[in-house]
Amino acid sequence: MFDSKSEFNFSNKHEGLVIGLFDRPEKFTGILAKLDELFEGQLKELVKSGDLSAKFKSINKIHTFGKMGVKRIWFVGLGKEKDLNFEKARAAFGKLFKAIKIAKLEELAIYLESFTTRELNGQDAAHAAGEAFAMATYEFKGYKQRSNEPEKHLNSITFYHESLDKDELKASVTVGYSFGKGTNSARTLVNTPGNILKAGDMADYAKELAAKYEFEVEILEKEEIEKLGMGAFLAVNQGSAEPPKMIVLKYQGKEDWKDVIGLVGKGITFDTGGYSIKTKAGIVGMKSDMGGAAAVLGAMEIIGELKPEQNVVAVIPSTDNMISGSAFKPDDVITSMSGKTIEVLNTDAEGRLVLADAITYAKHHGAEYLVDVATLTGGVITALGLYTTGAMTNQEQLYEQVLEASREAGERIWQLPLFDTEIERVRNSKVADLNNSPGSEGHALVAGAFIGEFAEETPWVHLDIAGTATTSKDYDLGPAGATGVMTRTLALFVERFEPIEK
Ligand code: BES
Ligand code: MN
Ligand code: ZN
Repeated sequence: MFDSKSEFNFSNKHEGLVIGLFDRPEKFTGILAKLDELFEGQLKELVKSGDLSAKFKSINKIHTFGKMGVKRIWFVGLGKEKDLNFEKARAAFGKLFKAIKIAKLEELAIYLESFTTRELNGQDAAHAAGEAFAMATYEFKGYKQRSNEPEKHLNSITFYHESLDKDELKASVTVGYSFGKGTNSARTLVNTPGNILKAGDMADYAKELAAKYEFEVEILEKEEIEKLGMGAFLAVNQGSAEPPKMIVLKYQGKEDWKDVIGLVGKGITFDTGGYSIKTKAGIVGMKSDMGGAAAVLGAMEIIGELKPEQNVVAVIPSTDNMISGSAFKPDDVITSMSGKTIEVLNTDAEGRLVLADAITYAKHHGAEYLVDVATLTGGVITALGLYTTGAMTNQEQLYEQVLEASREAGERIWQLPLFDTEIERVRNSKVADLNNSPGSEGHALVAGAFIGEFAEETPWVHLDIAGTATTSKDYDLGPAGATGVMTRTLALFVERFEPIEK
């Protein structure tokens, strides 16, 4: 897939060569100067006439007419040199790989040196390229009947960098590629419809991951879930024809099982709303209600590839939320694994119920730090829109670590408050310790506050991805559909995690 070489010669043969083009008029140095010489000054002319643009993210192709071993050169506009950073480089590579995919090129060389600046070193540029390659060329195949013609796709990229060590270069590309691949796996899980990805399928997928990366795996079946008293999780499953699965993966990267990070992902394979049924418009798209679980599984894949020195337990409560004669209903009172009782006021507020027991169970597995990810509320979309994940926490230092990881991943998060006023609303019930839906004001906040009741004293960060798990528009790093959001943030967070002094 990836190769790296230190010296580029004009006789080297490639279907395409990629060169980064900075906006610095008249100044052709390095490979650009050499190419301009080869083309007798024509390159400069193309820039002057605007046929070759250095505008950030513009992609232009020229043919070499046999003047060199390379058949075509793709120029990637990078804008002003001082403005280029990791995120922008990744976006530019994303646009490039989308263009390459459309051109159906199978082989390519990238002159990586032309993407580096004082701010962005070769290793980071390599990481950006690897990540963008995986993410931007992602495609969900779907279920249309298709011809048997073999599809052409890019399967070989040679990176040229004169000063970087070849192995280091290859390693950086591969790390970036792993981040992208993990994200794509999450996307595919989310894009798969609810009749094809049921709780049992999610459990099977987790088992495959475990086998590949030597994770410890535990799938709790309905009987065991009952024995453990996970009444909140079971209530949501009550109306379903499909048995629930509590999925646990353990990765041990430290000698002892300490400083354990618990990653908890909402795994509702389809959310009808239950008896508090959704509208006919609101129900469409609810196959994505396992986006949190997908992010956790995607992150575990990256963790399996990179093997950081950390301990992680991933917990995923999976079921659909359906209606039947046996389904749970408003006014029901249920008992969670923690012992806390819950008055059900809205069966569509099911995410917080399954997460309640999952968080308790993560703690039973030794989690000392918790991050939950969930497509939890429409309220977070009202508050933050479709491009920002809502975050809540009971421990600012832990939040800082998640925030830092999200910045590196280029996945925006924004903190929402956890105030006593909302905690009191969640605790306000005549018949139980908690209620699952204290009214629509500040939906996202009370949902988070509810989950916080189960994290208790354990440092915890909550990520509400209801707005960000899917997108209706194509973007530089992927097509419309599932985004795989938070996969990379979680993986980076785990990789860089430092225990907080108590
Ligand atoms: N899965 C939904 C949240 C959601 C909404 C995700 C839109 C993606 C897009 C969640 O289970 C839900 O139904 N939340 C309700 C809670 C309310 C009934 C208290 C909501 O936010 O409307
Ligand atoms: Mn719901
Ligand atoms: Zn839901």
